[in-house]
Amino acid sequence: MTAPPERIRIFDTSLRDGEQSPGCSMGPAQKLRFALALAELGVDTVEAGFAASSEADAEGIARIARALRGTGVGVCSLARCRPGDIEAAARALEGADAPRLHVFIATSPLHREHKLGFSPAEVVDAAVRAVEHARRLVDDVEFSAEDAIRTEPEFLEAVFGAAAAAGARTLNVPDTVGYTTPAEIEALFRRLRAALPANAVLSAHCHDDLGLAVANSLAAIAGGARQVECTVNGIGERAGNAALEEIVMALSVRKDRFPFRTGIDTTRLVPTSRLLSRITGMAVQRNKAIVGANAFAHESGIHQHGMLKHRDTYEIMRPETVGWARSQMVLGRHSGRAAVNERLAFLGFSLDEAATERLFTRFKALAEKKKEVFDADLEALVLGEDANSAGWQLTAFHLSTGAGQGEQPAAAVELRAPDGEAHFGRGSGDGPVHALFAALTEARGLHLDIESYAVHSVSSGEDAQGQASLSTRHEGEELSASATSTDILEASALAWLALAQRIARRRTGPPGAVPAGADTATEARA
Ligand code: KIV
Ligand code: ZN
Repeated sequence: MTAPPERIRIFDTSLRDGEQSPGCSMGPAQKLRFALALAELGVDTVEAGFAASSEADAEGIARIARALRGTGVGVCSLARCRPGDIEAAARALEGADAPRLHVFIATSPLHREHKLGFSPAEVVDAAVRAVEHARRLVDDVEFSAEDAIRTEPEFLEAVFGAAAAAGARTLNVPDTVGYTTPAEIEALFRRLRAALPANAVLSAHCHDDLGLAVANSLAAIAGGARQVECTVNGIGERAGNAALEEIVMALSVRKDRFPFRTGIDTTRLVPTSRLLSRITGMAVQRNKAIVGANAFAHESGIHQHGMLKHRDTYEIMRPETVGWARSQMVLGRHSGRAAVNERLAFLGFSLDEAATERLFTRFKALAEKKKEVFDADLEALVLGEDANSAGWQLTAFHLSTGAGQGEQPAAAVELRAPDGEAHFGRGSGDGPVHALFAALTEARGLHLDIESYAVHSVSSGEDAQGQASLSTRHEGEELSASATSTDILEASALAWLALAQRIARRRTGPPGAVPAGADTATEARA
């Protein structure tokens, strides 16, 4: 009897390393929604945040820890090698049935000297004390040597050896700055595998600064890594982290080279990727492997001819295998509840009865405006619905571009406050969006310094819904919001209101508070 292939553990850090990158910030309800999707995808561990970084992060981790009970998925919090961090992480993980505490310290000479001001011995000492402390609170402890790739290999062996002896079960080798190459990292893993206790799981954590994160992760597996740390769509610091979907499909398609298995349900890859880009407002490039809109498009005549004769001529995996629906066009104004509910279930949404009813009403309204309602439209309805429903409503707006009259674009808006009172605002600006935001500022009585603004269509056709995404910095933290509408100016106004609401909530409510019911994924994206 042949032994089953060895398992590669998928450690998803979209909600920690991914979420901390510009344009990817998520609110607690959104994080929870995405964590549930990751569990459904079949990841082994969800790194849910960095508890000591903010109250909101700690609360987000705690909610995810409770929500993933019984799923078999581990929930992890990052912590520096500091007692306060470790205790905050352990507290946030209290409700988890498979908690993991992830401590890290930088080990490279550059970081030791310029960041920490620590000698090598002090680094080892801090790592050991942190792992021991973490082990007193949580069984499953992971230790990371930040900037491991630029660390002297003999020192890396010493730090990892000490961390393993102190009780760390997983030893993570981050290529923090995305510097390594496949041959180099494979050799490093072979060396570490030979030097470290056999029961310690070696893990790779690669960044994509040279576009090598996935190749390096695969090479690390060849060298002995049995856990890879990655993010959906490859989101993450600077150029991002290794993309989960690419690693998983490389392992699956090239079993001949990588005789391993993962727990991932590959048919959930596309829906999970799309969920993430709807939540963050960060679009996936069309030609992105596996989950990009063009990943399975065959445009050239020669390719189409080959495909018609035999799919394998130009297709190394089937689109259905990674979750692309055969047909994207599904619903229209005559579609009933059953069809909508079935499609929602296919897309991975499970809504309660009230939320389903609200969604159906809005689906009907959209179907009146649009001839065809695509999966992406439906997702946008669920995730981006009524960006201002829990607070201020946009009741009317008017824009004049000033074109041909030599005038500046001008806007007028009417808002309804939660107490029912109407508020009016007028504004002008360099362009219509600028004017609209000026009018909203006056009506809402709140100024936002918009750092980024992007609009993209969520489906196809002239009547496609547009998604507007905005971000701003508030008390040092990046906050973003997005909203959709068939009118991109309306989408922009709704996204602005959603962002304003997020800020107002931070000022008035407890840190990280979310509106009641927000975890049904049907609340405002704010
Ligand atoms: O890239 C990195 O070094 C990290 C560690 C904290 C694991 O994200
Ligand atoms: Zn990282």
